[in-house]
Amino acid sequence: MDFLKLVYGGSTGAVFKGPAVDPVELEKLQNRLEEADKWLRQGIDEGNDGFGWLKLPYQQTEHVFEYGNWLGNFENVVQIGIGGSALGNLMLRNALVHPYYNEIPLQKRKGPAFYVADNVDPHGSKSILDVVDISRTALIVVSKSGSTAETMANFLYFFHQLELAVGASMAPDHVLVITDESRGSLRAFAKDTGCRSLTIPSGVGGRYSVLSAVGLVSAVAMGIDIENLLEGAGEVDEKLNSRKVILDNPAWILSALHYLHYRKGRNIDVLMPYSDRLEDFVEWYAQLCAESLGKQGQGFTPVRALGSIDQHSQVQLYTEGPDDKLFTIIEVKRTDNPISIPGVNQPSLKELSYLYEKEMGQMLSYEAMATAAAIYRSGKPVLWIEVEELSPRTLGGMIFFFEYVVALTGRLLEIDPFDQPGVEQGKRYTYGFMGRKGYAEHRREAEDLFHMLNRKSIEL
Ligand code: PA5
Repeated sequence: MDFLKLVYGGSTGAVFKGPAVDPVELEKLQNRLEEADKWLRQGIDEGNDGFGWLKLPYQQTEHVFEYGNWLGNFENVVQIGIGGSALGNLMLRNALVHPYYNEIPLQKRKGPAFYVADNVDPHGSKSILDVVDISRTALIVVSKSGSTAETMANFLYFFHQLELAVGASMAPDHVLVITDESRGSLRAFAKDTGCRSLTIPSGVGGRYSVLSAVGLVSAVAMGIDIENLLEGAGEVDEKLNSRKVILDNPAWILSALHYLHYRKGRNIDVLMPYSDRLEDFVEWYAQLCAESLGKQGQGFTPVRALGSIDQHSQVQLYTEGPDDKLFTIIEVKRTDNPISIPGVNQPSLKELSYLYEKEMGQMLSYEAMATAAAIYRSGKPVLWIEVEELSPRTLGGMIFFFEYVVALTGRLLEIDPFDQPGVEQGKRYTYGFMGRKGYAEHRREAEDLFHMLNRKSIEL
């Protein structure tokens, strides 16, 4: 196994209490998957909108390194962005740097402390300012559209603080803008002030942008090996491109199984890694899945779970609740930090001796197996993905793999996995409420709808 192993025996066959997926049904999707793969590859060649992420493993990275290294001049970096302009950064940090990275003393860290301002909850934004010296802080402001209200509001807030701290003329020297080549307020700001800026390639959508400057610049600043990250993504791309028979291609199988189980009423997609380092990967995947596939009355509800914690929270529902979910458990085989559980010389703890000298990571793996077995025993379909280790290379490969699976699944569902009309609707209503010029009609519409909700209410 170079990157991952997909175990899918628990998701086909006649063991289910509910409708089963016959292995023959999988093979019958060969032609449709072949067509979907061709559609993707043709989309890149023709430079179609939304397909640009397939080229990201092969991009030039000089500017990413230049600006990532420039961030090393600061004590802190605050990335301002939301959705696809933030979740990938959090995923990379969670998976590839120390969980308490920001708390490690600056001299021992590989780069500046890293914060993300995504929500417009003043509590979160103010709290960042409580812990950073803004005069020693750089802002990375990321927005594909260059206009998303939350990102703009946080940008104005932090930029103003910078102006107060270092003066209006110096403040732009602390800012890196990552946005569209020509449209939006951020591009105009970069042109006017001459602050540093990078471009999000036009064909790359927000939730597919983690392997562009959006995710890579902060990764370089935190010392993540982005060359290996991209190399892993490229290797997986090549492997997937060389396997055009369904039973030979794990991404095709995964996509087909999602599609087939969905058709049989399982429209909840539970992704449950047994690794703290993949907690934000699941968060990132949830956006990718929901925004790409939730369209035209179709889609999967992504559920973020984490083993073993959710064994003590969700597994009751998973095993004995409704049969409306497809489960995917991820096991990372190698841990960098083994702990041998010590035996202690306390007679009162004798019953715990079954744990003595056992390795804690091994215990986590057994827990993953226990959950898979319990779900399967209850008659529900369960997939298992094994990853040898979590490194920049393997994570890059996994990112590309899941993006490809989601895009293929979108094609099987006959929807466009690269647009997000529902998100845009919410953005228009927000602009309207906040008084943006040209959006008054949207405000009226949203207010009318909201008043309809209010026809019935009750106080306590
Ligand atoms: O995937 C998407 O397109 C969205 O989730 C965006 O990432 C999100 O809405 C933020 O948009 P923008 O980057 O334009 O500010």
